[in-house]
Amino acid sequence: MLLLVALGIVFSSTVVTTERAANSNHKPPAQLLNYSRISLPPEHVPYFLYNNKRVAKQCRLDPLCPFKDALLDVSACWGYEKNCDPGKRFGYPVCTKADSGWARSLEAAQELFWKQADFGYVKERLSELKTLCKASKPGHSSLRCSSHTRFCKATNLYLDLQKPRRSHERYKEDFIQKGEIGGFCRLNKRALACVETGEGVNMYHHFCDFVNLYISQHINNSFSTDINIVMWDTSFYSYGDLFSETWKAFSEYDIIHLKTYDSKRVCFKDAFFSLLPRMRYGLFYNTPLISDCYSEGMFRAFSQHVLHRLNILHHGPKEGRVRVTLLARSTEYRRILNQVELVNALKTVPLLEVSVVDYKYKDVPFLEQLRITHNSDIFIGMHGAGLTHLLFLPDWAVIFELYNCQDESCYRDLARLRGIRYVTWQKMDKVLPQDKGHHPTLGDHPKFTNYSFDVGEFMRLVLEAADYVTHHPKWQRRAPHDEL
Ligand SMILES: *[C@@H]1O[C@H](CO)[C@@H](O)[C@H](O)[C@H]1NC(C)=O
Ligand SMILES: *[C@@H]1O[C@H](CO)[C@@H](O)[C@H](O)[C@H]1NC(C)=O
Ligand SMILES: *[C@@H]1O[C@H](CO)[C@@H](O)[C@H](O)[C@H]1NC(C)=O
Repeated sequence: MLLLVALGIVFSSTVVTTERAANSNHKPPAQLLNYSRISLPPEHVPYFLYNNKRVAKQCRLDPLCPFKDALLDVSACWGYEKNCDPGKRFGYPVCTKADSGWARSLEAAQELFWKQADFGYVKERLSELKTLCKASKPGHSSLRCSSHTRFCKATNLYLDLQKPRRSHERYKEDFIQKGEIGGFCRLNKRALACVETGEGVNMYHHFCDFVNLYISQHINNSFSTDINIVMWDTSFYSYGDLFSETWKAFSEYDIIHLKTYDSKRVCFKDAFFSLLPRMRYGLFYNTPLISDCYSEGMFRAFSQHVLHRLNILHHGPKEGRVRVTLLARSTEYRRILNQVELVNALKTVPLLEVSVVDYKYKDVPFLEQLRITHNSDIFIGMHGAGLTHLLFLPDWAVIFELYNCQDESCYRDLARLRGIRYVTWQKMDKVLPQDKGHHPTLGDHPKFTNYSFDVGEFMRLVLEAADYVTHHPKWQRRAPHDEL
């Protein structure tokens, strides 16, 4: 298990040997704005300008500003801003039922889902922000946190790792002791110790980290990549990361292991402590989520942001063709035993363009995986972290969790957050677990079994999904042209 803390720590951190933070007196000259450094998906630019009025003003005055179109409608807002017109929000959830345990009306259900898992979540955290520590003079320290220190932002913060107590634990609560973190004013140490381990090997867990970093950037209102990201790892191990390319969407520098600062005292001019993925009520690991609602809001924005910055292009969709990607597994369990039979059946349907992939990181680099996923209309796979790829499917896509192995909510909920269609196997008499040659025992968990599937039922589900795709307005709008 890995760690993350992810403090996005801005700007060059200064290593200091004295008690005082390095103090830069000279201000940089007002710089001309380099628009290409903003690097946001075109759809996000109006929202960015709404929150960066100075950039908008400069753009208005600059005949060469590439964002002129975005200035035509200046009211588009993510939804969490003060004075944001609800009708102009980036997105808003759709609920098909009001889950009686949660909400009395459809409206209440939508509002709840928005706060639980959409930009309303940012709004809630922003509204909780309290100043715990105020800078009395410029250059002094400040600290602002949301409730339960889920998110914190600090200026002129020092960290003293002259005597680090490293162990085998990735995240140790008492790693930082009194006097080892702080500023000019007295900080509440507990406020900052609230960090947790992340995960660099399992895609579901790791993308939880990335999503929370993205949400934190919304809270901080900055998507600059001119930041340093520090992994809060209290162990002496190094950090293995199968998805390391993804960090490029957030920082132009290498990720810094906390270890780098061992035996030093460092001072950060401006830092935030990212929302923790695995905290109580965090997104998306422990999210309590009202049922029968979905949204094309925050998670869609995350997906667009990451794909744009990693330069993952979309080709298509193709006219009259539905691209089906089947994710094979080469593990010791959850294999599709009759995969060849299923794939051959798919290939008999002219509408379907079928590919079988095995996302092994050694064979298929992660960005290539994203490219394949992003150019799939139907994505089929057994329950497993690889299904986290659904975040990067196009808006009209269907994720078909072939069999959920009795873990019903995990990928169904992720699909609801992302706002795409989710399908899974229902007819239990038409799926056959592999005979293990012994009587079932308690150790025979559905996750540790291979399966074969009824071909007729499989095809019925895929063709239903294909029908959904080809009737999706966004697919129809883009299908005949748009070969990017
Ligand atoms: C947070 O916002 C400040 C002020 O806009 C900005 O300078 C800083 O780079 C941001 N921090 C991160 C980690 O993005
Ligand atoms: C603007 O930023 C882009 C992307 O970082 C860079 O390639 C380019 O050289 C910059 N242009 C200027 C004039 O600094
Ligand atoms: C699943 O199938 C693979 C490949 O045939 C095999 O090696 C493995 O032992 C099977 N696992 C179980 C739990 O039966």
